[in-house]
Amino acid sequence: MPQITYVQPDGERRSIPVAPGATVMLTAVANNVPGIVAECGGAAMCATCHVYVDEQSQALLPPVSEVENEMLESAASGRRENSRLGCQIAMPDGVEEIVVHIPSTQN
Ligand code: FES
Repeated sequence: MPQITYVQPDGERRSIPVAPGATVMLTAVANNVPGIVAECGGAAMCATCHVYVDEQSQALLPPVSEVENEMLESAASGRRENSRLGCQIAMPDGVEEIVVHIPSTQN
């Protein structure tokens, strides 16, 4: 089954099986992954689901939308070239794994 691997700031990794279409944010919240706050519940209005996408996973994902692009500017840990909102990343069909790094803070 496809999986999302979450890497904590201290390097701890946890891989969680997901169905295609499940988002990085909802999978994290449903499985009590620390560091994904998701204050707005997935509406792309809070940036507390911010993640840094692993380099190899970046090419597997659709591009950043205009709304996501604007909201990423308010990410507490600072935006990088590989920043995404976890609520806007759905597990793509046919992809076996995506890896995301959780920032040190979301507030
Ligand atoms: Fe608020 Fe993703 S949950 S922007």
